[in-house]
Amino acid sequence: MSQSKSHTTLQVAAPEVLGPVTTEEARLLERVDLARLPRHVAVIMDGNGRWAQRRHLPRVAGHRAGTKTARSTIETCARLKIEALTLYAFSVENWRRPKAEIDFLMQLLREYLRKEMPLLQKNNIQMRFLGRIHELPMAVQNDVRDAMEKTARNKGMVLCVALNYGGRAEIVDAVNSILGEQNGHGPRPPITEESLARHMYTGSLSDPDLLIRTSGEMRLSNFLLWQIAYAEIFVTETLWPDFNRARLLEAFVEFQKRERRYGGIREDEPVAEEHARVAGQ
Ligand code: FPP
Repeated sequence: MSQSKSHTTLQVAAPEVLGPVTTEEARLLERVDLARLPRHVAVIMDGNGRWAQRRHLPRVAGHRAGTKTARSTIETCARLKIEALTLYAFSVENWRRPKAEIDFLMQLLREYLRKEMPLLQKNNIQMRFLGRIHELPMAVQNDVRDAMEKTARNKGMVLCVALNYGGRAEIVDAVNSILGEQNGHGPRPPITEESLARHMYTGSLSDPDLLIRTSGEMRLSNFLLWQIAYAEIFVTETLWPDFNRARLLEAFVEFQKRERRYGGIREDEPVAEEHARVAGQ
């Protein structure tokens, strides 16, 4: 797409899609090509505890504030017509936290699903959950199933909430699911990248092309290990409760600056001359 055309798209689409924007957001929107946004954004929402600590509040206040950020991120991505957004809400490792904090997080999620259903429906969002859902408290399982059923026919953005999720556990579950499908007759077909991908919790969803992690840690924390093979990684010092719409737009600006080569070379790279030079050495 030419520079002038993408600029025109922006001028016309941005205010219409996002509603009123701040001066900072408007400045960032000028630098984002809305036609080249990532298809699937994955987020490690980190820093709720530190955000609360800095304000001398209990950790759970950070989680509550983090829910508001989740809400604005979900709505912004849906309005920008991003195909999928995956949020890391609770990992298989998070069971090591104090029981009171775990209970609070589960309640917060249930509350979110109840309160935000109209917003999800209005934005045509389809909800999915990634993880060992069957190990969650029964009340959470029921709400999760209910949210999936209520939004199953929505055709807009797919919102995946990773819940009791572990990247290694997901690979193990995918392999077991393939083995479980074998009927025992004849030789077992080989496992391929395609078959394994199909058995991941994400199924046919495209792989994330942008992974955002807030609060500055340079770790993957067992998140989407299979799917992020080629994702651009954006780490920001901003703590999750402070990750507002401007910070999200900043991540998109950075994503668009990066060159995505998937292990190949740039399209305009002078391959022939390079080969001739190396051969002549
Ligand atoms: C990490 O911060 C955050 C979590 C483990 C929970 C994330 C959950 C939410 C934002 C709320 C619900 C989500 C949805 C999708 C509605 P941390 O506690 O590890 O922070 P710290 O590293 O500063 O201690």
